[in-house]
This record gives sequence, C-alpha cells and structure tokens, in this order.
Amino acid sequence: MERPGAGTGGEVLILGIETSCDETAAALVEGGEIVSNVVSSQAHLHARFGGVVPEVASRHHLELVLPVVREALGEASLDDLEAVAVTQGPGLIGALLVGLSAAKALAWSRGLPLVPVDHLQGHVASLYLGPEPLEPPFTCLLASGGHTLLLDVRERGSFAVLGTTLDDAAGEAFDKGARLLGLGYPGGAEIDRLAREGDPDAFSFPVARVPGLDFSFSGVKTALLYAVRDLGDEAEARRADLAASYQRAIVQALVARVREVGGERIAIVGGVAANSELRTALPEAVAPPLELCTDNAAMIASAARYADAIPPPGYLALDAYAQAV
Ligand code: KG4
Ligand code: ZN
Repeated sequence: MERPGAGTGGEVLILGIETSCDETAAALVEGGEIVSNVVSSQAHLHARFGGVVPEVASRHHLELVLPVVREALGEASLDDLEAVAVTQGPGLIGALLVGLSAAKALAWSRGLPLVPVDHLQGHVASLYLGPEPLEPPFTCLLASGGHTLLLDVRERGSFAVLGTTLDDAAGEAFDKGARLLGLGYPGGAEIDRLAREGDPDAFSFPVARVPGLDFSFSGVKTALLYAVRDLGDEAEARRADLAASYQRAIVQALVARVREVGGERIAIVGGVAANSELRTALPEAVAPPLELCTDNAAMIASAARYADAIPPPGYLALDAYAQAV
C-alpha cells in the first residue's frame, strides 16, 4: 500500500537520513517544519588526511547512524513515522550504502514506504523548509564540495541545469586552496574566517571565463599555488591576504554567473552558500540558515515531500549511485 503524504507535499512525519559524505545526519520533518535535525560531523577524523577518506567515512557512518537516528527521534517512536527518506546519491558509494541500508531496515521493520532522495534535490529542498519556505520559480546556485550548478527551478521536486563546473567544484576549490595555505579541513569555513583579516585586493587571482553558463575553478587554484611558491618563506605572513584574495576571486565568479542569469528571485544553497562574502555579495539572494547549507538530513526529508515514495517491499533491492544522474 502506498501511503499518501510522502511525494505529495503532505503533512506526514518523515524521518530523513543522510550519509553521502562525512556527515552522519538524521532529522524529523513534518509538513515542511523541522521537528529535529541532528548532524554528527566526522570532519575532525578526516582533517589529518586533508580530505575525506571513503573507507574511514563508511565505518564511522556505521557506528553513528543508529545513535544519530535515535537522537533525532527524541520522544517520537518509529511507529509515529509515516515515511523514511534517505539520500540515494550522488556521493561516496560505501557511505551512501550505510544510510540506505539503515533506512531500508527501519522502514521495512514498520512496513513504511521509503523515499529515495537525490542529494542535489535535497540541497534545493533546504529552501522549502519553514518558517519561510521559498516558492518556485527561482534561479538557484548550488555550490558544494562536489558540485557547482546553476539551476532553473520551476517547481518543487525538479530543476533544469543551466550551467555546471567543467573541473573543480567551488567548495573543492576552497578546500584545495585551504590545503595550499596550510589551513585545516574542511577548508571553506577556514578561508572564510581568515579572509576577514586580509586584503582581498592584495593579489590578483583571475578565474577562467568559460563559454555559456559553466564554471571553471582549476585555474584559480593553480594561480594560488604559484603565488604561494613565489612568496616562499613570506607566504606564511601573507596568509590572510592570500585567503581574502582567493575567496574574492571564487565569490566574484559565482556572483557574475548568477547575475548573468538573473531572474526575479535568486537563491543559494550548498556548503559554499554558508560563505559570508558570498552572502554579502548577493544580498538579494534567499539563503538557508548556515546549518541547512552544509549537509544535513532535514533537507533530505524536505525533498522527500516532493519525490516518489516506494511502498514495501519494492525498495529492498534499491541501490545507491555515486555520480549525479
Ligand atoms: O554541501 P556540503 O556540506 O557537502 C557537499 O555536498 O559537498 O558542502 C561542503 C563544502 C566544502 O567544500 C566546504 O569547504 C564548503 O562547503 N564550505 C564553505 C563554507 N562552509 C562550508 N565554503 C566557503 N565558505 C564557507 N563558510
Ligand atoms: Zn551536500
């Protein structure tokens, strides 16, 4: 039996689970309102490697997923749920499979429908959560560690891609830049913090303009590498200026594309939407609160309201996918 609610934008209580990268997250969403939102970040475990180690991520998801779900449920029990939503992809395949298996087991144990959610749809759906949900149509910049997309959103539950990155994602550029500057992982927030003490005009880091509405960030990363090399011993003392100039270059490239597309309403989502300079540079843009920009499960449960629910037992053989579809 397919229950009404999930997939129909309904008022049902949905448990969301997200394990696509290095955050183990679970949340309860009811009628677009967040009831609970728990995120356990493993970032500190990966920091000494300068990036996410897939096998380490999978193992920790395995340890954390049930405690995190339990915390998200709080006083609620599994019997109160009407659907379980889970990130199916894209992401690290081993990490995704931990969340997907847990979601299948929880849903199956209570005869609930399962809603497989695309992680990118999840980021966009962070805008549909209360207290002030955004109504399409709007132009959306989705900038995260894995993706940089310009989207035309006409209705909840789908989008059209206008532009994408030809090489590195914006968040990846932040992370790699942070590594070159000897900052911690994840690098975006570190650069954001350090840039406040620096001069954004100290260095010129041009970002390649590619045809159409696509992005390219590999050149700016190389420009930073050369600047650090040329400075030699002096680089350490100029870190704030380097961070500020590098951040300025990435932010301006993102802003230029968004302005090129325009549209009546503009929104920014994904981890990079937490960047303070980007938020200031696009004051007209709708942006989720910081904790809903980076990976979380509330956005997954939110997206589930506009995705197809699979009744039991149809989802038991469901697989995860690593690449965007
Ligand atoms: O959406 P997200 O949590 O995970 C992915 O789906 O990839 O995005 C993570 C990315 C990382 O690359 C991180 O460095 C970046 O978002 N990020 C930021 C900031 N906070 C997180 N980038 C720039 N400024 C920030 N404040
Ligand atoms: Zn994400």
